[in-house]
Amino acid sequence: MSVPELLPVLSEAEIQKRVTDLGRQISADYRGEPLVLIGVLKGAFVFMADLVRRLEIPVEIEFIRTSSYGKEDTSSGEVRLLHELGTDIRDKHALIVEDILDTGLTIEKLISCLAAYHPRSIRVCACIDKTERRINDLRADYACFPVDEGFLVGYGLDYGEKYRYLPAIYAIKNLTSEDPK
Ligand code: IMP
Ligand code: MG
Repeated sequence: MSVPELLPVLSEAEIQKRVTDLGRQISADYRGEPLVLIGVLKGAFVFMADLVRRLEIPVEIEFIRTSSYGKEDTSSGEVRLLHELGTDIRDKHALIVEDILDTGLTIEKLISCLAAYHPRSIRVCACIDKTERRINDLRADYACFPVDEGFLVGYGLDYGEKYRYLPAIYAIKNLTSEDPK
């Protein structure tokens, strides 16, 4: 059985610097406006925690969980909200915070679910905007890093629930169908 290998892609310092810049940009764009950040569990929990601490404006925080990505490394397209939103977002700006935008299916479905709560606007903030497998014309309104390809782990991103705790981001290589996911 092959051993999965982790190749460094983004260092902790690079990520922190970029999150700081993004925090400033989001603060400038929403200053004086009611803003709710909606983190998508589980992957966004690390990015969300860092991002909110770089904001210079007050925000409300909410988390949502979608139906699982399953055990595969590609999106099933079956996306459901697993619970109702606990915060009233009507007439507030909603900013969805995601770990990674891949095919775009999750975010597309999430946007239509959240629209039912009548927010003033809905935008998307992703730590990684990975375009290789995008199947719709969605783009992140805010993204820390555009990435072309590869399966990434660390900084909240997992492969079969592993590697989320790593403070940097790596590409995982040498995966075979026998590797536990
Ligand atoms: P999408 O619906 O294909 O855009 O799926 C996005 C979700 O798939 C992300 O929130 C991640 O949970 C997962 N995902 C997609 N690509 C990767 C990756 O490279 N590493 C880890 N998780 C990924
Ligand atoms: Mg996710």
